[in-house]
Amino acid sequence: MAKLPGDPSSDPARPVAPSRACTPALVDLHFAQPLDRLAHSAPGQPCRVAVWAALVADLIAPCQAVPTLLTADEATRAARFVQPRDRDTYLVAHTLCRALLALATGLPPRSLVWLRGPFGKPYLDHSASLPSTPRWQFNLSHTSGYVMVALCRDVEVGVDIESLRPHLELPGIAERFFSPEEVACWKAGPPARQVEMFYRLWTRKEAFMKAVGQGFGLPLDSFAVEADPTRPPRLLRTPPHLPGCDHWSVHDLTDALLQLVSPPVPCAALVAAAPTLDPSLHFVSGPALASLLQLLAASPQPLP
Ligand SMILES: CC(C)(COP(=O)(O)OP(=O)(O)OC[C@H]1O[C@@H](n2cnc3c(N)ncnc32)[C@H](O)[C@@H]1OP(=O)(O)O)[C@@H](O)C(=O)NCCC(=O)NCCS
Repeated sequence: MAKLPGDPSSDPARPVAPSRACTPALVDLHFAQPLDRLAHSAPGQPCRVAVWAALVADLIAPCQAVPTLLTADEATRAARFVQPRDRDTYLVAHTLCRALLALATGLPPRSLVWLRGPFGKPYLDHSASLPSTPRWQFNLSHTSGYVMVALCRDVEVGVDIESLRPHLELPGIAERFFSPEEVACWKAGPPARQVEMFYRLWTRKEAFMKAVGQGFGLPLDSFAVEADPTRPPRLLRTPPHLPGCDHWSVHDLTDALLQLVSPPVPCAALVAAAPTLDPSLHFVSGPALASLLQLLAASPQPLP
C-alpha cells in the first residue's frame, strides 16, 4: 500500500505489512480503513478520494472462486469478450468495484444498480434503496494487466491508467489531438522522458474527460492540462462549454504506482470536481480481495 500525504494508514502504529492469510484484518487494512477515511471527510477540507489498483493476474482466481458479484447484464457482456484476457479484466474490474461499493453502502453487491450517463459513464442509482446522501461516486479504468477503481463522495471523479506503448507514433498523435500548449511543452521535454511524459499527459486528459463523463465525446484540444511532469498537475484551460470545471483538481498517480508495482509501470491519473484533493492509493492483493469476497458472501443481508 502506498501512502500519500494525509493517509492515516501512514501512522506507524497501524499494521501495514499485508499478511498472506485471508483474515478480516486484511479487509480492514485494504478496504475498510480507506472507506472509513472517505466517510469522515469534512466539508471545506480537501476532497478525499480512495483509489485501488490491482493486477488482473492477482485477482482473477479469487473472483472466479466465489459466486459472481456481476449482474446478469454484466455477466452477458463479460461472456461476449472474445479474448479471455479481456474477459478476465472486465470480471476483475467489475467485481472489485462492486465489492467496494457494497462495503461502502452496506448493500449486497448485485443489488447496486448502475445507471449510465449520456456518454456511458456509470453512476450508482441513489433513487431506490440507497439514500440520496452521501452520493457515492466511482470510476474504473483498465489497461493491459491492470485495473484501477476510484471512489469518493458527492463529487464527480475520473480515473485513467494506461500502459506505455513506445512503438506508437506519439508525435503524430500528440499533434493531431492535443492542445497546442500541451504539444509545445511535451516537445520541449527531455527526449529520454518523452514516452513517459506523453502517457502522463494522456492519463491526465483522459481522467478529466472521464470525470466530466463525456469520454472521447469531449474534443481533446478543447482543454489543456499541465504537461510538464516537474510541475504540479492542474487544468490550464477548461472547455468553453463547461465553465464550472475550472476549479477541478488533477492528481498524477504514476509516482505512487512506482512504489507498488514492478516495471514496466503504467501511468495513471485522477481528476475530481473539487478545488483540492486528498487522495490515497491502495494496492489490492489476491488474499485481500478473497477476504472481502468471503465477507460479502457471508453477508447476504445488508452489511452493518
Ligand atoms: C470513457 C472512455 C474514454 C474510456 O476509454 P477506455 O480506453 O476504454 O478507458 P478505461 O479503461 O479507462 O475506462 C473504461 C471504463 O470507464 C467507464 N466509462 C464508460 N464510459 C464513460 C464515460 N463516458 N465517462 C467516464 N467513464 C466512463 C466504464 O466503467 C468503463 O469500463 P466498463 O466498460 O468495463 O464498465 C471511452 O470509452 C469513451 O470515450 N466513451 C464514451 C463513448 C461515447 O462517446 N459514447 C457516445 C454515446 S454512448
